[in-house]
Amino acid sequence: MATEILIPHKAIRARVQELARQISSDYAGKEPVLIGILNGVVFFFADLVMAMSIPCKIDFIRAASYGSGMNSSGNIKLVKDIEIPVGGKDVLVVEDIVDTGLTLNHIVRALEARGPLSVKVCALIDKKERREKKVTIDYCGFEVEEGFLVGYGLDYDEQYRYLPDICVLK
Ligand code: PRP
Repeated sequence: MATEILIPHKAIRARVQELARQISSDYAGKEPVLIGILNGVVFFFADLVMAMSIPCKIDFIRAASYGSGMNSSGNIKLVKDIEIPVGGKDVLVVEDIVDTGLTLNHIVRALEARGPLSVKVCALIDKKERREKKVTIDYCGFEVEEGFLVGYGLDYDEQYRYLPDICVLK
């Protein structure tokens, strides 16, 4: 399948720097726990954390949705949990793309149930086309209207994650 560049790596890098600056300023004097939602988030997560100017802890979580066909059933389960206890901590959930919102909604609720001081969300891409669950994105990289996106961690059937740009699959 062909891919067409939508957001070049240079623009991603610049936006990630801005997000990191904003987050570092908002959390100044604190030590948030940044929780990345695997697997797609890995490149964004690493770039974001390294661009921040405040100390933080990092951990990862993974959810999977079980259903038939192309559409998510909404039946989401945690398949890999975090290891750092988040009770009393400031938590920042980091996601690569919010599509239906089902994954993020499930993960935020699961984390909120553990008594953190705060839970906020940073997502590189907010794609509203198929949104089913209302989710609050506190730090958003880019809003994209439609299209199947790959690259910079995003995959189609586990392919294309390695592309440095965010591309549309044609
Ligand atoms: C993708 C993406 C988000 C989720 C968004 O992950 O990374 O986590 O889907 O979709 P939603 O808003 O409709 O729930 P996926 O489960 O495909 O795993 P991956 O990160 O390993 O690609």
